[in-house]
Amino acid sequence: MRVHHLLLLPAILRSAVLAYTPLSESTIQGLPSPGKDFDIKDGALLSPILIPRVPGTPGSEQVLQHFVDFFSDTLPDWKLSFQNSSSTTPVSNGKEVPFRNLIATRDPPWVEREGEVGRLVLVAHYDSKLTPKDFIGATDSAAPCAMLMHAARSIDNALTQKWDDMAGDALDELEDQKGIQIILLDGEEAFSSWTDTDSIYGARALAEEWENTYHPPLSTFSTPLASMDLFVLLDLLGSPPQRVPSYYKTSHWAYLNMADLESRLRKMGSFKSSPNHKSKRFSNEPRKKEPMFLYEADKKDTDRWTGGYIGDDHVPFIARGVEVLHIIPSPFPDVWHHPDDDGEHLDPDIVEDWALLTVTFAAEWMDLEGYLDDGKKDRRSAEVLKDELNGEMT
Ligand SMILES: *[C@@H]1O[C@H](CO)[C@@H](O)[C@H](O)[C@H]1NC(C)=O
Repeated sequence: MRVHHLLLLPAILRSAVLAYTPLSESTIQGLPSPGKDFDIKDGALLSPILIPRVPGTPGSEQVLQHFVDFFSDTLPDWKLSFQNSSSTTPVSNGKEVPFRNLIATRDPPWVEREGEVGRLVLVAHYDSKLTPKDFIGATDSAAPCAMLMHAARSIDNALTQKWDDMAGDALDELEDQKGIQIILLDGEEAFSSWTDTDSIYGARALAEEWENTYHPPLSTFSTPLASMDLFVLLDLLGSPPQRVPSYYKTSHWAYLNMADLESRLRKMGSFKSSPNHKSKRFSNEPRKKEPMFLYEADKKDTDRWTGGYIGDDHVPFIARGVEVLHIIPSPFPDVWHHPDDDGEHLDPDIVEDWALLTVTFAAEWMDLEGYLDDGKKDRRSAEVLKDELNGEMT
């Protein structure tokens, strides 16, 4: 097993080592909305993904190109790479089917050597299922892919500003070698029926290759897998029901970070799918009860932890000691593997809410409070705000 040394620390110590400044309300309110970009007909991010995209077909190539164009055109500071493999499938008559994973990485500019940066890794699969015919897989996982694109775009400027500001300062080793990676995986779906060999083709190939890709000797992190501080897998998001348990005790600390963000976003009236969204509730009205997506913040050690029951892209990573936060509803959405899992059956409010939660989770992880305002606030006020927030927390 490869366990990142930092993660061996109890959560309480770990949080003392890594700065974690909650985003302020005004920062959250100032985040750019995706606007029309999640529109299912002509939204710039989502609509190009809403086509059949079975591995090895033109649809798959088209969607992959859409991701490449997006990063190259709008996020040139993210380094793109592919991890390709091929495999026969139960329906390929002995022919090799290509699987192409796309990896987009952004590290602090002063990091010169692979192996010196730990990363938050955000993951979704982009392939669609062969059956039923013309299956779109809007929740599975077109919408999660679009959420990740939106998240990358939403924090990109802030990362630049933060790292520009830090470049002159003495660096705190652990804290300042934090990067972020988005992985869009191919070949998650089974071609025939789900087995260990007919499923997660891309994830299996990537985990195996990266386990055997060594960073230079004496690197802090021995392989790209060891560089993963947390692997967050989004799947089946965008259509009800959306109740996400905490699956793994080992990553419950990360679940709590996200659940806490969700409850703050709901309290602020920022969640569009909530009856308490600011457009639906007068300020003097009592708050309505609302279910949480991440409803297991109070889970106890002795409760039932069901990690391991759901086969998905995280499996080959968790088997190699990677810390995983699996964001997948249980039960699955009603449209799961049904022809109805298409754009029309997405709930646009739910899609936007997950996108906001993803953006804010990534922003807090990367410690971007004070940098998300596109330079409107000056640096000093950001620092003061940070001190105040820190003061409140201790
Ligand atoms: C992997 O596949 C992509 C997309 O088809 C292609 O552009 C790239 O050259 C391939 N990389 C390698 C190393 O074969």
